[in-house]
Amino acid sequence: MNHSNPFTYGNPITDAARFIGRARQIEQVFSRLRNVEFESSSLVGERRVGKTSLLYHLADAAVQRAHGLDPARYHFLYVDLALVDATTTPARLWQYLLGRLETSLPARAFEELDRTALDNFALAEFFDRLGAQGQYVVLLLDEFENVTRNANFGPDFFYGLRSLAIHHKLALLTSSRRELIELTHSDEIRSSPFFNIFANINVRLFSPDEARALIANALADDEIAFSASETDALLDYAGAHPYFMQVACHFLYAAYAQRHSDAAREMFWRGEFRKQAAPHLAEYWRHSDDKEKIVLAALALAETPRGAAQGEWDLSALRALLARSERVLAHLDKRGLVRRLQERYALFSAFWREWIVNALPEQTFELDTGGTIPFVQALQTALAQPELTESFAETELPAGLSPRELEVLQLVASGLSDAQVARKLVLSPRTVSTHLQSIYNKLGVNSRVAATRFALEHRLVKNPPKK
Ligand SMILES: Nc1ncnc2c1ncn2[C@@H]1O[C@H](COP(=O)(O)OP(=O)(O)O)[C@@H](O)[C@H]1O
Ligand SMILES: [Mg+2]
Repeated sequence: MNHSNPFTYGNPITDAARFIGRARQIEQVFSRLRNVEFESSSLVGERRVGKTSLLYHLADAAVQRAHGLDPARYHFLYVDLALVDATTTPARLWQYLLGRLETSLPARAFEELDRTALDNFALAEFFDRLGAQGQYVVLLLDEFENVTRNANFGPDFFYGLRSLAIHHKLALLTSSRRELIELTHSDEIRSSPFFNIFANINVRLFSPDEARALIANALADDEIAFSASETDALLDYAGAHPYFMQVACHFLYAAYAQRHSDAAREMFWRGEFRKQAAPHLAEYWRHSDDKEKIVLAALALAETPRGAAQGEWDLSALRALLARSERVLAHLDKRGLVRRLQERYALFSAFWREWIVNALPEQTFELDTGGTIPFVQALQTALAQPELTESFAETELPAGLSPRELEVLQLVASGLSDAQVARKLVLSPRTVSTHLQSIYNKLGVNSRVAATRFALEHRLVKNPPKK
C-alpha cells in the first residue's frame, strides 16, 4: 500500500486547500487593502510560524476574490527577499520587481518607463499611470529585514517607498521576524516615518481549534485516522505551532502507513519529531535575550514535575519571578514561544519544556560587566534577589507600545480628538490615525473606548476623561 503523506514541513504551504486558519490576520490585511487609502501591513512572527505560507495564501487569486479584491485589477507579487545580498542595490531590486510585474500587468503600463533611469520620479509616474488605468500593485516582501538591515538601502529608498505607498497607490505586505523598526541598520532610518505606514500584524501560534482543524483537514479523505488520545498527546508534545505540528503529524502518519504497533508508533513519531524539532528550538533560544531566557527557564522548571530534573528549584520562588515578568512573558507570547492560558502563561509545548531543562546546564549568561557565568547561577541569583528582576516589568512599555504610541494613547485617553492630538504633537492627522491603528492592533482592540479603558487599567493616564 502506498500512502502519500498529507503532512509536510519543509516548504511553505502553496495550496490554499491545505492552508489552515489565520482568518483574523487575513481579514485584517484585506480590509486595509480595501479601504480607500489602500494600506500596507507588516506580518511579524518567528521563523517557521507560517509567514511565507500566509503571504502565498494572500497572493492566491481565489482568496483575493473571496475577500472583495478583483485579481484582474489588483496584482499581488510575491518576492523572496532572501535573494537580496551585500551587492544588491535599490535600483537592482526595482529592476527585478518591474521585470516580474511585466508578466502580469498590461504591456502598455511599461511603454513610457525608462528602466535605465529608475529614480523615485520614474516609479511614481509608473504607479500613477497604472492607477489611472485602474490597476494596483501589492508587493509581498518576504523577509523584509534583508532590506532594512542592508546598508545599500538608505533613507532615500525608504522615503521613496513611503511616498509610493501613500501617494501613488502602491501597497506593501512585508514579513519579518521582529517588528521592522527593530530591524534597521541605522538610527536615521529608525526615526524616519517610513514604518508608520504599516500596521503590525502578529503571526503567532495556532488556536486550539486551528490546530485540530489542521489534522482533520489533512486526514479528511484518508483511511488513516489518529486516535483521540494520540491527537491529544501530539498537540501537547509538539504544541499548536504550524511547523512543529506538521512535523509530528508527518511522522505519526508515517508510523501508521508502516503499520507499526501502537507502542512502536509512539516511540517512532516522538523520536523522529525530537530530531527534527531540536535545532529549531535551539535557534529560538539563541535568538532570545537574557531576560527572555531567564523567564523561559523559570517557566520550564516550574512546569517540570518534581523529582525529575526539577531538582532543588524552589517552586514558589520560580512562580514569584514569573509573576513579576509580565512584560517579558507578553513579548514571548507575541513570538509564539509561550501561550497565554486563563490565569498564566505556559511554554508552547512539552518538548520545548524538555529541551530547555536539558539545555540549561550547558548554557552561560553574559554579565553586563563583561565575562560569563553559568546560566543556572544567573537564574539562582535572579530568584534570590527579586529586586534584580523587578525591572523586568518596567523595561518595556505595555503591549509593546512605542514611546510615541504611548504619548498618542495618553492624549486620546484623556479625551482629545485626533485633530487635537495631531496639533498637540505637531503631526499630520494621518500620522495620528496610523499611530492609533497600530495602538489598536497592539492592544487587540478596535475602538477609542476600549483603548481608553486599557490606558486607565494600566495606569497610563492620571485623570479619566471628563464627560
Ligand atoms: N496556515 C498553515 N496551515 C498549515 N500548515 C502551515 C500553515 N502555516 C505554516 N504551516 C506549516 O509550517 C511550516 C513553516 O511555515 P512557513 O510559512 O515556511 O513559515 P515562516 O515563513 O514563518 O518561516 C510550513 O512548512 C507548513 O508545514
Ligand atoms: Mg518564510
